[in-house]
Amino acid sequence: MLCLQDMNDPANSTFVLCGYVMDAPSWGLLRGWEDGAVAVQDGKILAAGPRHEIATMVQDWPERAWRRAPQGERWLVLPGLIDVHAHVPQYPVVGRVETALLPWLKRHIFPTEQAFIAERPVIREELDAFFQEVAAQGTTTAMLYGAVWQDSTDLAFAAAERSGLRVLLGKVMMDVDSYGHGSHWPPARTWEVSLTESRELITTWHGRDRGRLEYVVSPRFAVTCSRELMAGAAALAADSGCAVQTHLSENLAEIDYVRTLFPEAFSYTDVYRRAGLLGPRSVFGHAVHLTPDELDLMAASGSTVAHCPTSNFFLNSGLCPLDQLRQAGIRVGLGSDVAGGPELNLWQVMRSAIETQKARRFHDSSLPELTPAQALHLATAGGADVTGQGGITGSLTPGLEADLALFDLNAVLPMQGRFTTPEAAPETIAVLMVYRGGPQALRGAWVRGRRVDAGRKP
Ligand code: GUN
Ligand code: ZN
Repeated sequence: MLCLQDMNDPANSTFVLCGYVMDAPSWGLLRGWEDGAVAVQDGKILAAGPRHEIATMVQDWPERAWRRAPQGERWLVLPGLIDVHAHVPQYPVVGRVETALLPWLKRHIFPTEQAFIAERPVIREELDAFFQEVAAQGTTTAMLYGAVWQDSTDLAFAAAERSGLRVLLGKVMMDVDSYGHGSHWPPARTWEVSLTESRELITTWHGRDRGRLEYVVSPRFAVTCSRELMAGAAALAADSGCAVQTHLSENLAEIDYVRTLFPEAFSYTDVYRRAGLLGPRSVFGHAVHLTPDELDLMAASGSTVAHCPTSNFFLNSGLCPLDQLRQAGIRVGLGSDVAGGPELNLWQVMRSAIETQKARRFHDSSLPELTPAQALHLATAGGADVTGQGGITGSLTPGLEADLALFDLNAVLPMQGRFTTPEAAPETIAVLMVYRGGPQALRGAWVRGRRVDAGRKP
């Protein structure tokens, strides 16, 4: 048997992982093989299923290609998790309590992002550490915002490239009351400059490493963006083929404020429609308080939502009606929204999504529940659908790139599993992970079959 050190060999992207193998490739479908295996060949998934069937398929592979749990561990092999909404520069200030979004942005977030410049001491080390923490969750794809600065976004891309993770990232664009400076903001921050800087970052980074890195055009939200900036952002995204990300209808005071800023628009979503920002490659963070008309606009345009329930609780934003989004046919993924959400751990985000739906059901028991299997789908294949990478990652379907997360089930069982055995049904494993999973249980993460986590020893 190989030790974990061997798995760090970057050239070694052909191997078999053994354990409980599970994925959630579509809504309501949870596949699980208790004595399973996943065969990875040249960075792609060759097959996933019962171990004896995989063994027959790869019988000419050498014994050293097989990785099995060491004594005392019980491995669970999953597709890598996908976080579709988080803010890189905000991670150092997680857990700053404030009653609501707008005061929190002004008091904690804007000063933090404003200081996130390339000259910041040890920014490279900080960015490397950030991506290591992303990988340590079992997250293999992340869709992220930088600060408004081109230089620190450039460094964030460089760190993403070093990390081996699949990353979609953009510099925040804003030209109205930027970082709370009102009209005193240096004129260099105009919308023209923001577009030029975004375009330069696209030229340098979009599509790097055969598409592992993607640029995302990122107008922050209607509160800090002029009509010109939003229209320019939409045109830039259309020109370059980049995805778009922004925030929508997160908080009631924010919605009221947007109404006063854009009196010509019928709704918050209509502000973005008028700018040309709706579309199948647009990811809207939060979408907690959409009206039926807005749901229709979102669905008709194929726009998608980053559901950020830990953040919605932390900032008192509300209970996002996931059931309504899905019923309208809107594609949804899950976002940690660090630092609106307090942690990068997507199992906590899944749990929070389930509890949000439970809370909605206390008021109306006719609403559907969100099952752990469905939550896992949102955090994997659903997320890939939102980032536009459904044909690349998100499940263990043969032919997809081998983005994998390996957990030790014993690490989520009471007393390290010494006195308990999990039930074999995949639904039970999903519940266990959703309620007790996290980085303490991670034993490996791979993108395209290459190790991306720090490779801690068992
Ligand atoms: N709306 C505009 N900017 C932000 C942000 O940084 N975090 C959250 N949660 N909402 C926002
Ligand atoms: Zn956000």
